[in-house]
Amino acid sequence: MLMSESHDYHQAAGLRTITEPKPVQVLAVTSGKGGVGKTNVSVNLAMSLCMQGRSVMLMDADLGLANVDVMLGLKPTYNLSHVIKGERTLDEVIVEAQQGLKIIPAASGVNLMADLDPMEHVGLIRAFSELSCDLDVLIVDTAAGIADSVIRFSSAAQEVVVVVCDEPTSITDAYALIKVLSRDHGVKRFNVLANKTRGAVDGRQLYEKLSKVAQRFLDVGLNYIGHIPQDSSIRKSVQRQCGVVDQFPTSRAAKAFADIASNTLRWPAVALPNGNIEFFAERLVAALPERSATQW
Ligand SMILES: Nc1ncnc2c1ncn2[C@@H]1O[C@H](COP(=O)(O)OP(=O)(O)OP(=O)(O)O)[C@@H](O)[C@H]1O
Ligand SMILES: [Mg+2]
Repeated sequence: MLMSESHDYHQAAGLRTITEPKPVQVLAVTSGKGGVGKTNVSVNLAMSLCMQGRSVMLMDADLGLANVDVMLGLKPTYNLSHVIKGERTLDEVIVEAQQGLKIIPAASGVNLMADLDPMEHVGLIRAFSELSCDLDVLIVDTAAGIADSVIRFSSAAQEVVVVVCDEPTSITDAYALIKVLSRDHGVKRFNVLANKTRGAVDGRQLYEKLSKVAQRFLDVGLNYIGHIPQDSSIRKSVQRQCGVVDQFPTSRAAKAFADIASNTLRWPAVALPNGNIEFFAERLVAALPERSATQW
């Protein structure tokens, strides 16, 4: 390439970064069965990505008791429902946890989320699109099972992480979730994470169990992203209301999170429009029933 061509090329590339929103990787963390460790995985994967220099936001889309703000000892005043009602901006709602992790707290006025009018739809999309400038990854911690909200978030995200563990029904419930998402909602690629394992072999075996039935009966691609061992440091960090990667960075669990985090960074960033957080919000809104009585 000649000097002047190279100069033009770099100038064009520079312009592109100014005019085009940068791709944001959107990951929904889900599971068939409750209590398998989704919130722990969401928090620590997100925090680990922060520790690797990424700008990360965690959206709490679960209203379970042990949700993200409880787990991290945060006391948020506002949540996403205030953004949708136009009372707050997304920036005012976001709270910051350790390692600079940004959190969108769970919406307490949940019925409203399933009950948006067109103006509120627009408000939600705008709120997300304003964020796109300085974010690398958005992680969404969902509820378990095939609840409406799980389906909506998972089908709007770019990547779905299904957490499984060696507990009765964890695999069969994960299979049921993958079946519904693939058959009825066009999600064809799933990333499987084995949690609370005794070791690498254990994790791989869990994955094989799920993958065998899924590949045989469903039209899906499964990708094993690794395992997090059963580790008492997780319980200790939960008691301290902190992430294990922040409090016990040399623990087995923290190291496993760091490995999985750096692997996810190697996933191809999907080019626009799929890579865009605004696109995620649009797809989310498209999946929301207007003025329906369905709960989020
Ligand atoms: N790798 C692990 N080692 C030890 N304990 C763990 C591990 N992962 C999760 N736990 C513990 O398991 C319990 C459930 O975890 P968590 O709340 O993250 O699950 P969840 O899937 O989000 O649950 P829910 O379906 O209720 O939202 C918690 O007490 C958590 O501390
Ligand atoms: Mg949870």
